[in-house]
Amino acid sequence: MISRRQVLANASQLCLLGALAPDRVYAQNGLMQRTVPKTGERLPVIGLGTYRTFDVADNPTELDRLKQVIEIFFQNGGTVVDSSPAYGPSEAAFGYLSQQIDLPDNLFVATKVRADGRDQGIRQMDASPQKMGVEKIDLMQVHSLADWQTQLPILKERKAQGIYRYIGITASREELYEDFIDIMRREPLDFVQINYSVAERKAEEVILPLAMDRGMAVFINRPFAAGALFPYVENKVLPDWATEFDCHSWGQFFLKFILSHPAVTVALQATSSPNHLLDNLKAGQGLLPNEELRQRMVDLIGLTGRPPWT
Ligand SMILES: NC(=O)c1ccc[n+]([C@@H]2O[C@H](COP(=O)([O-])OP(=O)(O)OC[C@H]3O[C@@H](n4cnc5c(N)ncnc54)[C@H](OP(=O)(O)O)[C@@H]3O)[C@@H](O)[C@H]2O)c1
Repeated sequence: MISRRQVLANASQLCLLGALAPDRVYAQNGLMQRTVPKTGERLPVIGLGTYRTFDVADNPTELDRLKQVIEIFFQNGGTVVDSSPAYGPSEAAFGYLSQQIDLPDNLFVATKVRADGRDQGIRQMDASPQKMGVEKIDLMQVHSLADWQTQLPILKERKAQGIYRYIGITASREELYEDFIDIMRREPLDFVQINYSVAERKAEEVILPLAMDRGMAVFINRPFAAGALFPYVENKVLPDWATEFDCHSWGQFFLKFILSHPAVTVALQATSSPNHLLDNLKAGQGLLPNEELRQRMVDLIGLTGRPPWT
């Protein structure tokens, strides 16, 4: 039964949505959510990455476009943002823009440390909240396992002190998978972040099943193989059977493939385009492909591994 509080919450949400431009807000039923295994916290399945797309200097046109991107993201139920001090000015660009808009109460900020040595790591981690315009970072990750033997113990100390709610590691290249898996087996991680797409599927072999076994939430990076999947399908027609899982564009096709893996918590898509974002967010609604359809998706795309595909 729906509680009075839920009815009121839904009503106020509808009022809020009604006040926004109709072409910008469609996710009235919200994005699908997944549970963080260690805490039960629910997160919307589409996240916002900032690699390259937020790497802007102070170009007013680009900044205005990115402001629209984060507004649309939050207005449509997005809460998860992922950045890194290694992404040039991206943390600061998000911080600058986020001061100009209404942020959701349940904003979930993830960033990373990519440093050499304890002092540099601590300096970098201490700088991130101010750069991103937030009081706290929710999830701190060791970026691409850089100096993880030094950085991961700092993350564990800081989690114990209540500075971070969650800690994790990231990778986006197969060369790191062996160490990545080893760390997953030995360390008490809350999150792992890994590359996975309809073309780059190696994470299915060990990493994704292991994350489920170890109760780790999973963020997916490179969902479009850093954009390389789009030119590949430019002249291809979306198959009729995509409507069986409420899919109406290639962006949704790629994201729904990822979201239909049971280990996946959030797909971190990156875009600097308001229209692309509106399209991508729709992947977080409606049906997802079953096993048979997933195999058809893989066969149809017919790509394996990292671009350039030969
Ligand atoms: N080791 C790590 O920790 C690591 C490594 C890589 C990535 N990441 C994280 O994961 C996030 C996502 O990965 P990614 O940035 O490598 O790549 P991605 O999300 O796979 O691809 C981004 C590219 O796709 C394009 N795009 C997005 N939606 C589109 C659409 N609907 N139609 C056409 N083009 C579209 C974007 O161009 P437009 O701007 O024109 O839309 C952009 O060039 C990163 O931003 C970062 O937060 C982490």
